[in-house]
Amino acid sequence: MNMTKSRFHGWPQRMPSARWAYVNGEYLPHAMAGVHVEDRGLQFADAVYEVCAIIDQRLMDEEEHLDRLERSLRELEIPMPMARAPLKLVFRELVRRNGLRNGIIYLQVTRGIARRDHAAPSGLRPTLILTARPVNAAALVSRRQHGVIAISHPDERWARCDIKSTALLPNTLAKTAARRQGAFEAILVDGEGYVTEGASTNVWIVTKEGEIVTRDLSHDILPGVTRRVIFDAAAEAQMRITERKFTLEEAKSAREIFLTAATLGATAVVELDLVAVGERRPGPISQRIQGLYADLAQRRSVP
Ligand code: PDD
Repeated sequence: MNMTKSRFHGWPQRMPSARWAYVNGEYLPHAMAGVHVEDRGLQFADAVYEVCAIIDQRLMDEEEHLDRLERSLRELEIPMPMARAPLKLVFRELVRRNGLRNGIIYLQVTRGIARRDHAAPSGLRPTLILTARPVNAAALVSRRQHGVIAISHPDERWARCDIKSTALLPNTLAKTAARRQGAFEAILVDGEGYVTEGASTNVWIVTKEGEIVTRDLSHDILPGVTRRVIFDAAAEAQMRITERKFTLEEAKSAREIFLTAATLGATAVVELDLVAVGERRPGPISQRIQGLYADLAQRRSVP
């Protein structure tokens, strides 16, 4: 089979864009990049992913994202498609080709291509997909300055949320519900009334007593890379963080709430379920945490 022909068959004839993607060893114009129709990533969301921020042309928390990628793959018994060192070179080449100063790299690894069958055959060659896009740095800063609005939403996900799988339907439904209500994020709440995390973020609160709290790691939440690095940054600054469950009610009466993700850093929530959080503006702790995180991530980044 001629892979090149089949990949492009039926695609609109567009001028190659200035955006580049990388699929299984090839750099391709973004508009032409694609995968096989029987890729298990497409058929079953049998795939994992990472999102890595690029700030001033540098990849943030690169090692931590690669550590988590390897862990997700290990949990699903999908082999790493490429060793770390060449993968890092691909990251850099993609940043270069896309002319990115501030943006994100999206990486996805699927189990590979096979005739559709729920049971996964062994020995497939994993598919590696990388895309990159710029972010509006000014919008990001403005969001941090003003904070964001959130709603609560039932957590309807599976029992292994610690794996960064592309099976995100409950997350996308929750986020869509949030956007329809004019909110930025959906804060997910488990059957017992405890906050798990956001649809695409980890959630933190600062209690009335000034305690910084985020949910402890388990199969119930994604071990966020930003969360991880914030622990290191807070330790450097001798700030204490408590890892424990907290209820939606506790979040609603908190002094501050903030969200963390590679795409956000630490961003305050100023309204939850139509109720103001604190003084309806980003509080001092979330702002301090954002500063400490940005500083440590920059210091650790390698060109
Ligand atoms: N989301 N929890 C969930 C469910 C997430 O999807 C994410 C990240 C996080 C934060 O993890 P990190 O700090 O490693 O970005 C927590 C990415 C950004 C996304 O899906 O686009």
